Amino acid sequence: MNKSLSFVLAFLVAGATNLALADDIKGDAQAGEKKIAMCLGCHNIIGYQASFPEVYKVPKIAGQGEKYIASALNAYKKGDRKHPTMKGIATSLSDQDIADVSAYYSVLGKVEGASLPDKATEPQGTVADLLKKGGCTSCHGENFAKPLAPEYPKIAGQNADYLYVALKSYKVEGQKTWGRNNGVMGGIAKQFSLPELKLLAEYVASQQGELKTVPQSRFR
Ligand code: HEC
Ligand code: HEC
Repeated sequence: MNKSLSFVLAFLVAGATNLALADDIKGDAQAGEKKIAMCLGCHNIIGYQASFPEVYKVPKIAGQGEKYIASALNAYKKGDRKHPTMKGIATSLSDQDIADVSAYYSVLGKVEGASLPDKATEPQGTVADLLKKGGCTSCHGENFAKPLAPEYPKIAGQNADYLYVALKSYKVEGQKTWGRNNGVMGGIAKQFSLPELKLLAEYVASQQGELKTVPQSRFR
């Protein structure tokens, strides 16, 4: 066999193995720990602020659901979420990297046996009507911390300013550098004014949840 043909064959075989794996990629938290050097400077510093498209605290991702973390990273990678920094970062990750860092962050800071209230605190005033109109608990859970599907985010206790920016971004259309295309949350966020989204964000952030920012010094 000539050399270049055997090279092509070896390449095809390697390609086929990769394809077989892509169907069934499993996240490995231990492998993930070695792949988060790039994330630490933002997601493991308490109170760290981003300045685009406005100033807000970066999301807490420790304790978030594994499937949701992967789904969010894939949305940045595909361009459904346009935030430029996260898009650049997610694009640099392979499918296996995404699976591993998602497994890692989902268990980071987890406290065995910790319990959460089953229900959120009784919403007062306007926010009660807004929550009802949006049917928020039907997907994010009665306490906003136990979503009904693993690809849905836990939102209880997330940073209020981040939740507000995230909600706003589902309303944005046709912008190159910001906005999120999501069939589900787009339809929901568009029903509310910005002041209403702010009220929702503040209420959800005030609920008890498992999301955390775990400073690097605690695990190195
Ligand atoms: C320069 C700061 C910075 C770095 C570095 C960074 N992130 Fe982010 N990350 C952000 C910001 C800001 C957002 C919110 C973007 C938005 O509004 O959609 C975000 C959002 C996310 C989200 C979505 C959270 C949610 O609740 O939807 C995930 C998941 C995430 N980052 C994971 C990572 C991982 C994993 C790494 C490392 C491989 C990383 N980030 C590196 C700043 C950063
Ligand atoms: C039909 C199910 C459904 C309903 C109802 C729903 N959500 Fe969501 N929500 C989702 C899904 C799915 C996502 C993830 C979308 C994505 O990948 O960007 C999400 C994302 C979010 C986010 C972004 C979280 C993050 O970490 O970036 C916030 C905030 C949010 N929802 C708040 C709400 C509020 C407040 C309501 C009620 C007004 C609501 N949701 C109603 C399914 C739902």
